[in-house]
Amino acid sequence: MKRQWGWGVLGALGLGFVAVRLNGKLRPKPMPVNIERFFLTNPLRVSYFGYRDALRLAGDLKGLRVLEVGVGVGVILEEIAKRVGDSGQAFGVDVQSDAVAITEQRLSQGGLMSRTGLATANALEMPWTDQSMNRVIMVAMLGEIPSAHRVEALKEAGRVLNEGGKLVITEFWPDPHYIPLSRMVGLLREAGFGIVDIHQKPLLYSISAKRER
Ligand SMILES: C[S@@+](CC[C@H](N)C(=O)[O-])C[C@H]1O[C@@H](n2cnc3c(N)ncnc32)[C@H](O)[C@@H]1O
Repeated sequence: MKRQWGWGVLGALGLGFVAVRLNGKLRPKPMPVNIERFFLTNPLRVSYFGYRDALRLAGDLKGLRVLEVGVGVGVILEEIAKRVGDSGQAFGVDVQSDAVAITEQRLSQGGLMSRTGLATANALEMPWTDQSMNRVIMVAMLGEIPSAHRVEALKEAGRVLNEGGKLVITEFWPDPHYIPLSRMVGLLREAGFGIVDIHQKPLLYSISAKRER
């Protein structure tokens, strides 16, 4: 009897997981901020699925203008703002105003707002001028954009990147909106990027790319 219960619970969890993944794939949409607060700030996420891999590929950020697209609750932007130093600037954009508000609060508490610019806007139309950024970072965000608009979002990232600027993307599984690496490479090429570097570890990859002009 106990064993049957065990299988029942496992089966229900498995079905729930498949349903969430399917829903994320078929109807991509921004993750609600309350869920982000839990999933994006817990220690496992921050240590393994956090910013380290993306920021390693982004290189030394000191003095640079670095934009994170889809900041969520600001965990990664806070680290970016620390790394750019006094001479650099960190920028963040999110389509959800609640996420931007939480990010602002986080950066203010850390005394980092003087070197940070935030905007509530869509990744498809960002409020920064052409070639104004040295780096653009996207972590676990592109898959939340409907598939028909993903190349457009990458082109918009390419628009704000300056000559020699780098786009860095991290995706991890089992994010319901996970985009497999081979698909991501295809999207980047379609958007006019050349691949610079790929870093993979179990359940996660980071990829850096430069616009081919
Ligand atoms: C899963 S969260 C990741 C947040 C952050 N990058 C991190 O890893 O901690 C993805 C974020 O992308 C944002 N997002 C989704 N679609 C967007 C769009 N079209 N334009 C701007 N932000 C978007 C969501 O609102 C959400 O806050």
